[in-house]
Amino acid sequence: MCYNYLMKKILLSGVKPTGRPHIGNYFGAMKQFVDLLNSGDYDCYFFIADYHALNFIQNADEMRQNTLDLAIDYLAIGLDPKKATLFKQSDISAHTELSCIFDTIVTMPYLMRAHAYKDAVAKNKEINVGTFNYPVLMAADILLYDTDVVPVGQDQKQHVEYARDIAQKFNSIFGETFKLPEPLIIEGVATVPGIDGRKMSKSYNNTIPLFAMRDEILKAVMGIVTDSGDVNSDGIPKNVYTIHKLFKPESELKGLYDTNKGKYQTLKESLIEDIDAFIKPLRERRAELAKDEKRMVEILKDGAVKANEKANKKLVEVKRAIGVIH
Ligand code: ADP
Ligand code: TRP
Repeated sequence: MCYNYLMKKILLSGVKPTGRPHIGNYFGAMKQFVDLLNSGDYDCYFFIADYHALNFIQNADEMRQNTLDLAIDYLAIGLDPKKATLFKQSDISAHTELSCIFDTIVTMPYLMRAHAYKDAVAKNKEINVGTFNYPVLMAADILLYDTDVVPVGQDQKQHVEYARDIAQKFNSIFGETFKLPEPLIIEGVATVPGIDGRKMSKSYNNTIPLFAMRDEILKAVMGIVTDSGDVNSDGIPKNVYTIHKLFKPESELKGLYDTNKGKYQTLKESLIEDIDAFIKPLRERRAELAKDEKRMVEILKDGAVKANEKANKKLVEVKRAIGVIH
C-alpha cells in the first residue's frame, strides 16, 4: 500500500434513498458534506446507498424516484458535481464484491453486536440477511476509496467503527491494504431530536423535512411536544429550544426565551419564521433542479465512471492480496 501524502485527504459519505431528508439528516451529516467540500481540503465522494435502502424499499418505482430525489437533494444543498464525485452504490459492483470478500473474515457474533441488529431483534422483526450484513457492505463502501474521513450523525458511529475493525482484521491476515477511516461527528448536532423529543428519524414520523413547504413547517412545529417533562425549571421548552438553536445562535435566542417564558405559542411562531427563512431558498433551488431529472441521471452516470475507476483499482489490490489474481 502506497499513499501519496501530497494528495488531498479522502472524504466519503452516503445516504439511503428511503424518503425525504429531514433537518436531522441535514445538520447531523449533510451540512458537513457541503462545508467540507467547499473547504477545498478533501477529495470528496458522496453516494446514494441504494443497496442499503433495498432492505427497506422493495418497490421498483419508489426506488427509482427516491434515488432521483436524493440526487436532487444533494445538488440543492450545494454539492457541486464538478467538485465532488456523486454516484449511486449499485453502479459500482466493487462494493458488493468487496462486501462478499469481507463476509469470509467477519464473524456472526461480531455482527450480532450491531445496534441496528439488536434493535431489530428487540422488535421481534424477522431479520433478512441484508440487514444483518448491513455493516459489512458499509465497510466495503468506505474502504474501497481509501477514505480518511466519514461525516455522519452519531447513530452511524458504530458502523464506521465496524469498517475500521474489518480493515484491521483484513490487514492483519492479508497484509497492509486498507486505510483506517475516522468518523467525523459534530458535537451539538450529533443527534437532532424530532418533534416528539426522540431522535429525529424518517422511521419515527417525527421529522421536519429539509425542503418542507411552509404549511408543513407550521404543522410540525405546532406539534412539538411541550408537556411538563420537556420544560426546564426556567420555563424553557427543551424540544423547541434545541431545534431553534440549529437556526439561530444561542446569543440571539436568549432574549427571546427570557421574555417569553412559558409562552410556547409565541416561541413556536418565532421558530416557524426562522425555519421558513432558512428553508425557503433551499426549497426554491430544489424545485428548480427537480425540473430536469434527466440531468440527475447524467450526473450519476458521470460520477459512476469516476468512482468505478478508483474502486476497481482498489479491488485489484484486494484480489492480489487474497491470491485470486496470478
Ligand atoms: P433516518 O434515521 O432518518 O432514516 P438516515 O439513516 O437516512 O436517517 O441517515 C442519513 C444521515 O443522517 C446519517 O449520517 C445519519 O447519522 C444522519 N442522521 C439521521 N438522523 C439524524 C438525527 N436525528 N440527528 C443527527 N444526524 C442524523
Ligand atoms: N448507513 C448510512 C445511513 O443509514 C448510509 C451509508 C451507507 C453510509 N454506506 C455508507 C454512510 C458509507 C457513510 C459511509 O445513514
